Amino acid sequence: MFEVVVPATSANMGPGFDSLGIALGLYNKYYFEEIEEGLVFEGCPDEFKNENNLVYISMKKCFERTGYQCKGIKIVFDTKIPVSRGLGSSAACAVAGALAANQISGDVLSIEEILKLTTEIEGHPDNVAPALFGGMIASAQNKEEVLYSKAKIDESFNFYILIPDFKLSTQKSREVLPKKIDYSDGIFNVGRTALMLCALSNGDGHLLKASFQDKLHQPYRSKLIEGYDLFMKTLNDLDNTAGFISGAGSTLAVITKENDEKVVEKLKFIINNLNNKWIIKKVDIDYEGAKIINS
Ligand code: HSE
Repeated sequence: MFEVVVPATSANMGPGFDSLGIALGLYNKYYFEEIEEGLVFEGCPDEFKNENNLVYISMKKCFERTGYQCKGIKIVFDTKIPVSRGLGSSAACAVAGALAANQISGDVLSIEEILKLTTEIEGHPDNVAPALFGGMIASAQNKEEVLYSKAKIDESFNFYILIPDFKLSTQKSREVLPKKIDYSDGIFNVGRTALMLCALSNGDGHLLKASFQDKLHQPYRSKLIEGYDLFMKTLNDLDNTAGFISGAGSTLAVITKENDEKVVEKLKFIINNLNNKWIIKKVDIDYEGAKIINS
């Protein structure tokens, strides 16, 4: 039996829709064993104990590529990433399954091939890329490959996530997006993405608020998240701070250079004034990405 550990991820950082994601210090652990026959799941809800389990689907796709004939599989789950909250739980499953199947196959695929395979499963690379490599990753895909590069992020920034008790599926969240955007909205996001990357690498906290603005997905998805307006309005009072929807939601993320006390006071004010139940978590950046641990 061996273990695969995969970090949570926050995609769509600010204006970086479908392209900029960051790995966070919150982890799912999966334990794998090739068995004589069958499919055994432990530690996950009954609804996921079947052939539609994303970890298993990812393993199957990986085995198709490596050509390995796997007899049977046992997977034990120890998961901390909440499901359908915009924190990359499905990317974690896809990454874990592909890494595990590749190891069982005898390490046939390169990490780039694993990235391509998991991006195919997910549809976009901005969760799987940071889940695999750690840190903040810029990514884009064309027909042949997924391109990626690790972006620098100054150590002075802190991250918080506000996780609600309600789920939001990526499918539902994509359905509210328009088919076309205005040219001016494209320019708005391109400029801010460039500014944001420089601000993060240089530690320019005063640019966070302006550079994290987005016109490609948040104006549409914000309506699906009760609390978004109060969240953004309240964060406006904090200098050196920006808020954004984590991935496709429902989690809301905060990046800040302000001291903990000031930030937590505002975040508590927000969640205390909402109808749903939310939790506040301070999270580190994970710089290592997914790991296989052979015991
Ligand atoms: N970029 C993706 C989206 C992330 O916003 O739909 C969620 O999977």
